Amino acid sequence: MPVALITGASAGLGKALAAALVSRKWTVIGDGRDAAALTAAAREAGFTPVPGDVADPAHRADLAAAAGPSLDLLVNNASTLGVSPLPPLGRYPLAELEDVYRVNVFAPLALTQLLLPALTKTGGTIVGVSSDAAVEAYEGWGGYGSAKAALDQLTAVLGTEHPDLAVYAVDPGDMRTAMHQLAFPGEDISDRPLPGASVPAFLRLLDERPASGRYRAADLLAPA
Ligand SMILES: NC(=O)c1ccc[n+]([C@@H]2O[C@H](COP(=O)([O-])OP(=O)(O)OC[C@H]3O[C@@H](n4cnc5c(N)ncnc54)[C@H](OP(=O)(O)O)[C@@H]3O)[C@@H](O)[C@H]2O)c1
Repeated sequence: MPVALITGASAGLGKALAAALVSRKWTVIGDGRDAAALTAAAREAGFTPVPGDVADPAHRADLAAAAGPSLDLLVNNASTLGVSPLPPLGRYPLAELEDVYRVNVFAPLALTQLLLPALTKTGGTIVGVSSDAAVEAYEGWGGYGSAKAALDQLTAVLGTEHPDLAVYAVDPGDMRTAMHQLAFPGEDISDRPLPGASVPAFLRLLDERPASGRYRAADLLAPA
């Protein structure tokens, strides 16, 4: 059975993707900081929970131990929006921005470094969950967006350095989740699709294994 590690699997896209892989007979390991929420999601979706903060090196070691010596898929999905309401860069609190980079850039790279030997054994796949804010200059999105741009570039260079692996940055599109609500506090986001709508895009990448690179879920979901 193929093995996947998905960070941030207790809610949103991570949980929906974990459930989809489990239904395809994958063994899935997932994390999240809120242990109770993670345990409940793991029971519902059928994955193995390893609670913790992806920015914590000891927790990342626990994740690597749970994954074991060979891993087919790493999804760097856990992410923080940062300050809400989104502040302009001119007054973005730098301590908060460092935290955004710690969770959204350094943690996924550190986890990838730890898991590269296990991924290399299977010729596996690495996915960094990106955002349109990585490439569009939206007002207020400079903290989160620049961190996602950094994750995109790390992902692109990893793809070049590891031609034996499939390495993707994926923009999932807008999704009706807690993070999206935090970005639009007090606004009605009920017109945004649920995260499950983006999952087939990720499954298509796994099924078709195109060249490493950056992909938009909207393009992957469009009829051929
Ligand atoms: N929603 C959108 O419209 C949208 C658009 C573009 C890109 N994205 C990206 O899609 C991905 C999933 O976002 P989502 O909207 O599904 O978010 P979400 O519903 O808020 O879920 C985030 C998940 O990540 C976990 N998490 C957050 N910080 C963590 C940390 N430090 N360590 C471990 N787990 C952590 C959360 O659990 P705990 O809080 O318990 O840790 C939760 O399981 C993110 O990379 C996000 O940037 C989202």
